[in-house]
Amino acid sequence: MQKIPLSKSFVNDEVKQAALRAIESGWYILAKECEAFEAELAKHTATKHAVLSSSLTAGMYLLHLAMGLCSGDEVIVPSHTAFAGIEPMIHCGAKPVFVDVDDTYCIDAEQLENAITPRTVGIMPVHLYGHPANLDRVFEIAKKRNLWVVEDCAQAQGAKYKGNTVGSMGVAGGFSFFPSKNLTVLGDGGCICTNDDKIADKIRMLRNHGRKEKYTHEMIGFNLRFNEVQAAVGRVALRHLDAFNQNRRKIAAYYNERLKGMVKTPPEMSWATAVYHMYVISIDRRDELSKYLKQNGIETGIHYPVPNHKQPAITKIFNNLPRLPKTEKLVDNILSLPIHGEMSLDEAKVVCDFIAKFYGK
Ligand SMILES: Cc1ncc(COP(=O)(O)O)c(C=O)c1O
Repeated sequence: MQKIPLSKSFVNDEVKQAALRAIESGWYILAKECEAFEAELAKHTATKHAVLSSSLTAGMYLLHLAMGLCSGDEVIVPSHTAFAGIEPMIHCGAKPVFVDVDDTYCIDAEQLENAITPRTVGIMPVHLYGHPANLDRVFEIAKKRNLWVVEDCAQAQGAKYKGNTVGSMGVAGGFSFFPSKNLTVLGDGGCICTNDDKIADKIRMLRNHGRKEKYTHEMIGFNLRFNEVQAAVGRVALRHLDAFNQNRRKIAAYYNERLKGMVKTPPEMSWATAVYHMYVISIDRRDELSKYLKQNGIETGIHYPVPNHKQPAITKIFNNLPRLPKTEKLVDNILSLPIHGEMSLDEAKVVCDFIAKFYGK
């Protein structure tokens, strides 16, 4: 039976050669490969700086610290996102103020005004599943209310909002290289992209024990550095990213065409060039379909089954959590179908054939 994975990290001979080259260089942490990867990532995102760290969770934490996020601050975020996206602000003592999503599964910008309090300092839209959030509205409200915007681009590397690369429009944008993501490094990794020299500088110091010079520590930092072997791997993957994103768009267009009328397919708004980190359908008999596809070698996922405002870790520490009807309903119906940069149309056809068979078509 053919196995079709939900996602796939990129490995080829070029990747293996790059890893070998880094191994043989004798330099393993924050050296030439990391420097080059940072320069290439910044260029790809169209920002002045890209700062690597051991994961995006780590990078976001350092970003929040560098921005001075602290106890009592509130940040508006969609509840429907990876839990990892909201942990860093909570470690800084801030409170995530959860809002609902719109039809794109991203933050509903129309709910922002109501969520703002005197303690609100910023908004963190998440370009979920690779689809850019409604940024014009987010920035309009942020500007009016003097709030910062940080873009969570973990799932959207290379996506565009009205022609601008996501991660280049807010104070900073965060990217993840986790093995299922659009850009992979064969392990964990992440980066923060920004045009702000001071923020970039501070994150660079914080990730490396608060120093610029080897034995002069200007602040209390951490060891949340990136490594040379993964940077070498990432540099190769980055050269393929645009082509892989194009392929994801091709697979999504095929799914849209084959599945329309059978399931609710994901929308792509006029402002968006989405990069389909996930291709998420919405259906009534979700668990049955997922089981049926699994029996036939097709892996699916649910991103995410429990909204963050309902997570035990959150209900334990925060009171007055909102009711978010759209989010609370959609989690029962969403199903992520296989999609990745190297997926073939033949594989997508197999997935669609089985879905059609499930519906007796
Ligand atoms: C939306 C979102 N934000 C943040 C993260 C955290 O990234 P990382 O796993 O690199 O820490 C992820 C990935 O898991 C994510 O999907």
